[in-house]
Amino acid sequence: MKKVVLAYSGGLDTSCIIPWLKDKGFNTIAFCADVGQGDDFDAIKKKAIKSGASKVYCFNLQKELIEDYAFKALKAGALYEGKYNLACALSRPLIAKKQVEIALKENADALCHGCTGKGNDQVRFETTFRLMAPKLEIIAPVRTWEFKSRDEEIDYAKKKGIPVNVTKKSPYSIDTNIYGRAIECGVLENPWCEPPKSIYLLSQDPEKAPNKPTYVEIDFLKGLPNKINGKAYKPIELIKKLNDIAGKNGIGRTDMIENRLVGIKSREIYENPAGEVLFKALNDLESLVMDRETMRHKTQASQKYAELTYNGLWFTPLKEQLDVYFDKIHEHTTGTVRLKLYKGTCSVVGRKSKFSLYKEKLATYGKGDQFDQKLAAGFNALWAMPFMK
Ligand code: ARG
Repeated sequence: MKKVVLAYSGGLDTSCIIPWLKDKGFNTIAFCADVGQGDDFDAIKKKAIKSGASKVYCFNLQKELIEDYAFKALKAGALYEGKYNLACALSRPLIAKKQVEIALKENADALCHGCTGKGNDQVRFETTFRLMAPKLEIIAPVRTWEFKSRDEEIDYAKKKGIPVNVTKKSPYSIDTNIYGRAIECGVLENPWCEPPKSIYLLSQDPEKAPNKPTYVEIDFLKGLPNKINGKAYKPIELIKKLNDIAGKNGIGRTDMIENRLVGIKSREIYENPAGEVLFKALNDLESLVMDRETMRHKTQASQKYAELTYNGLWFTPLKEQLDVYFDKIHEHTTGTVRLKLYKGTCSVVGRKSKFSLYKEKLATYGKGDQFDQKLAAGFNALWAMPFMK
């Protein structure tokens, strides 16, 4: 029998994939990635074996996800279409890379994922597979298999002795990791429909959030957060702590229509309290320490970085070059940002840095003004000159 490594979530699709692959002559090794989705991995491992997997790997990838993926995207200011922090998109190249490592170690013949043919995730998995292990066969059963509905899958699972969870499935498709949640399907497919309150887990309903604002101070070192209210945190702990502080104030909800790589528009709800605060804070600190030309140019690079990430091109030359670029431009992004969190809004109310380019003696309209206003007359005359008839 040929060997295949499957990215296994423990859900109905990937569980059905195991016997389905067996019928096609494959022996399946299941790989569960713990990216902070909060699942019971012991139960999932058992389910993989019950479904017919010959072996199960389970890795905790949370630290890597935050430090080597999410924080790079944060430093790059990468928000897809100006809104989405890419939590799901960032996890895929990491999971796919680990999956390839297992396949090579196990001398497997193929790699398999449970993504549909309509989404972005198939592209993120397969691009990583193709770049890292071009010789391995890629199998994507959900795109082609015979099941037309969830009920048909359930019948198949029962026939094959796979434990089927009888509780009613949520009408939503949800992707969760330590950096955020993405929710789609069900009533959300109507772009006019307000998201039901019940879909949110990380953030309080802003209407029910505390009536008093919460102030929080975040320290950054070379473009990366390292302290909350003066206390140092490791990256994962920092994200958890900030999710808690910001979530309680109803921060971090995004409702957007986005352009998928395969050409369709989809409506997605994101929940990402820590990310929203960090993006706002970092962006503000940049405005204090970065010169104007760098800031202008960076905007384009940030957008490109977001597109590369969204489109599954994480392990490509341009993305790596941009990481070097963002490391360089953040050499002086060190300082503290003070934010006010209140009923769903997060506003920066103060910032300071030893690398500040803000010069009060030039900006002031009060005492001690050192700006020589006489120079402005010549500046104005020359500025308009090229356009005058
Ligand atoms: N649209 C997001 C992306 O492409 C999330 C995809 C997964 N979403 C979900 N609700 N299952 O990155």
